[in-house]
Amino acid sequence: MISDNAKKQIDSWIEKYPEGKQSSAVMEALKIIQKENNNQLTHDSIQAVADYLDMPGIAAAEVATFYENYNHQPVGKHIIRFCHNISCMLNGADDLISHLETKLGVKTGEVTDDGLISVKKVECLGACVGAPMFQIGDQYYENLTIDKIDKIVDGLK
Ligand code: FES
Repeated sequence: MISDNAKKQIDSWIEKYPEGKQSSAVMEALKIIQKENNNQLTHDSIQAVADYLDMPGIAAAEVATFYENYNHQPVGKHIIRFCHNISCMLNGADDLISHLETKLGVKTGEVTDDGLISVKKVECLGACVGAPMFQIGDQYYENLTIDKIDKIVDGLK
């Protein structure tokens, strides 16, 4: 279930913590396994991480379901993580999210028919000064407008 490559990466995280505290690597381990599995976690993959880190499955599942950067449904190649927290909401995020849904023909949580793009509503990403904003991969896009969104999304296709 866990590839040799993933084990190597996870081991490098385990080494950062005191002996016997390998479960502290759970967030990174889940991220590594998710990346290897079409950007999605399953019950079995979460349990495999728990077994590898010698921790209860429920504890790994609690982490995997608490943070929104873990995916439990199929996602697109690109995930648009649109902040809808207070600063972004006050600066028009809801209307922009509606525009994005209409443009892509999906609702938040869904994937476009071509499997390319999915949209997630997320909580504050710490870039309130650039509200409204979203994240794709490691890149933040701030001070969004309809025109900016159209250009960014068209560039993903
Ligand atoms: S509220 Fe959107 S980045 Fe903080």
